Amino acid sequence: MAKEIDQKEFRNVLGSFVTGITVVTTRTLDGELIGFTANSFTSVSLDPPLILVCLARSSGNLEAFQNSSGFAVNILSVDQRDISNTFASKVPDRFAGLDVTTAATGSPILNDCVAWLDCEMYEILDGGDHIIMLGRVVDFEDHEKNPLGYHRSAYVNFGLSKDAAIAAEHADSATAVGALLEHDGKILLFKDENGQLDLPAAQHVGGDDGLLEKLAAIGLEAEIGFLFAVFEDPKRGGTFTCYRGTTHGEINSDEAAWFDLNDIPFAKIDDAAVSSMVRRYIEDRKIDAFGLFTGDSESDNVGILSD
Ligand SMILES: Cc1cc2nc3c(=O)[nH]c(=O)nc-3n(C[C@H](O)[C@H](O)[C@H](O)COP(=O)(O)O)c2cc1C
Repeated sequence: MAKEIDQKEFRNVLGSFVTGITVVTTRTLDGELIGFTANSFTSVSLDPPLILVCLARSSGNLEAFQNSSGFAVNILSVDQRDISNTFASKVPDRFAGLDVTTAATGSPILNDCVAWLDCEMYEILDGGDHIIMLGRVVDFEDHEKNPLGYHRSAYVNFGLSKDAAIAAEHADSATAVGALLEHDGKILLFKDENGQLDLPAAQHVGGDDGLLEKLAAIGLEAEIGFLFAVFEDPKRGGTFTCYRGTTHGEINSDEAAWFDLNDIPFAKIDDAAVSSMVRRYIEDRKIDAFGLFTGDSESDNVGILSD
């Protein structure tokens, strides 16, 4: 018998698959430029050259894409988080202020992408609450930039590992590692004796007095995942490398607690760099692969290292 599918669990399991992010664009019959953020882009066939993208039937752009003879897939670079946010949001003109060129099918190409593929509409297939747009690729360009990644509703910067290694190698001051650990919409913060809050942090991940040991001491077994940020932290007096991660277990100490992502007491986080990074994490978490985006992204001001 088929397993009863819980929507939330289903979305979570789909989010475990790491993807890039694209903006799929077209020009309507009236000449209007439209587009949406999509991570459902997949390669399909080499001969003929086919790719696919799924578009929600609930999209305000459904009819325009169904009537279009072509579309372009713009693969976003790590510097294009804001563009991803804009094309997933309800702003009236998603192209405002953007430089675009026009591809052979008439579809707009966004400047500074990692790569783009211009496609003729080959076939539109039924995909349940989505349509599956099969595109026949007629032109493409590849600029080999660092791509923007996506995993479990958060952006991933694959270039950060290299930056962290360089920062550690050249550190003339102490380095620290920390973790943004999320559980049920809450993140873990440690409290000091003055009631100030901070992310769990240590001089290194494993070993004696390491981050994992510090977490184990309060009852949590942690799994360290993707790198989230690497930055100079004036308060800590060195480079702070922050990972995302998950935990198992129950907190058995007053030293730390889970704080709701919608209700973080920022006044009690006196490390401005950490506070800024947590704010960025919260903004990123509002983005959801199935269109639950609710706000504008906040500008990056923690000096995230990138290429
Ligand atoms: C990372 C990310 C990936 C997304 N992938 C898709 C997708 O593959 N297909 C889709 O229809 N919507 C996807 N969305 C949602 C759309 O971008 C967004 O909900 C939609 O453009 C909302 O506006 P609309 O109703 O005017 O189309 C994604 C959103 C984000 C943030």
